[in-house]
Formats: sequence, C-alpha cells, structure tokens
Amino acid sequence: MNKHPKIVPTQYDIHPLLLQRWSARSFSNKPINLDTLHHLFEAASWAASSMNQQPWRFVFGAKDSEIFSLLYSTLAGGNQIWAKDAQVLIAVIANTTFNDGTVNLHAWHDVGAASSYLLLQAAELGILGHQMGGFIREKAESLLSIPHTCNIVSIIALGYPDSHELLPEPFRTREISPRSRKPIHEFVFDSLENLSL
Ligand SMILES: Cc1cc2nc3c(=O)[nH]c(=O)nc-3n(C[C@H](O)[C@H](O)[C@H](O)COP(=O)(O)O)c2cc1C
Repeated sequence: MNKHPKIVPTQYDIHPLLLQRWSARSFSNKPINLDTLHHLFEAASWAASSMNQQPWRFVFGAKDSEIFSLLYSTLAGGNQIWAKDAQVLIAVIANTTFNDGTVNLHAWHDVGAASSYLLLQAAELGILGHQMGGFIREKAESLLSIPHTCNIVSIIALGYPDSHELLPEPFRTREISPRSRKPIHEFVFDSLENLSL
C-alpha cells in the first residue's frame, strides 16, 4: 500500500487503480522479487498494439546489478538524486521497424500503452514506478548495444514506496503535493468552432 497516498482531485469517479498509480520518488529498500516483476511484464504484454506487433522490449536491472548501474549512469542529474533508491531500473524500448524494414509509426504509442499497463499492475501490487525521459538516449542505447531498429523510449524506476521525509527538497514537497490535471474541457472537444489544440 502507498505510505502517503496522493490527493487526486478528479472531476468524475474513475477506477481506484488509476488513482493508486503515481510517479513516486521515495522508495524503500524492500527488493522486488523476480516473480513479481514477471507479473508486471505479463501485464504490459496485454496492451493493444498496431497489428499485434507488440513492439515493446524491456531490459531491467535490480539494484547493484550491472544493468542498473549502466542505466543509472545515463540519468539526468535531477533524476539520479532519487532514482538511486529504486529497486529496479527498466529500459523501455520500442522496436520501431517492421521485419520488411519499414517504420512502425505506432511503436512508441504502443510501448507507452504497455508501460501504463505495467505501472498499473505495479500499483495493484503496492509498487510505484516513475517513468523518466530525462536520460542521455545516445549513451543508454550505446551502453545497451541497442540496434538501429529500436529506440529507448523511457527508463522506469520501480520500488515499494517509502516516506517522503527521506527525500531532499524540492522532491520532499513534490512527493506529497496533490496531483493535478487539466480539466476535461481543455482537451476534449465536440465542436470544431471551439477547437483549441
Ligand atoms: C515519458 C515520460 C517521461 C518522464 N520523464 C520524467 C523525468 O525525467 N523526471 C521526472 O521526475 N519525472 C518524469 N516523468 C513523470 C511525470 O513528470 C509525471 O508522470 C507527471 O508529472 C504526472 O504525475 P503522475 O505520474 O504522478 O500522475 C515522466 C513521465 C513520462 C510519461
């Protein structure tokens, strides 16, 4: 369970699991066992994908592993401050190329969907994840020998949550501040006259 559930000011009731997932930065030292991780990857695999290509690939490393160190070394400085406490780092990879060499324009979309499934399953199991675009892509792709047919889309930090008080500022305050979203009318339109994209 979340140690400090976030306040989520929704306009409409939605499934509680969607409220349980949020991007935490404070992780406990409780390891995530392999079987639990496999539950998360199983969940990810049930995302929809264009032509059922399933373009997602995941390379993960548990704390103190070589892969963890490699991925950690590519993170932006601001992410390294808190991601060092994650129990697992995952490189989320899109295979952007079909077998015939043409580009799968939906690959990143489908990988995003799979990431969401992974993180929702994690939330169900009391694990929180934090997706990061703040990493040096070229370095990460080189260190992992990612082929030109693929891209690293994000790196996800995973762990069981811990107290926000263990974090330095400004992360400590952010960890307990309410989540916020645009109201629906700002991004949903049913008239071309009022369209504001
Ligand atoms: C693709 C992607 C990249 C992100 N990159 C970072 C990042 O580098 N550092 C960070 O602290 N948060 C990062 N985030 C987390 C977002 O800031 C977070 O999802 C957003 O503020 C909404 O908060 P919530 O996930 O708790 O609802 C990223 C999220 C996504 C989906």
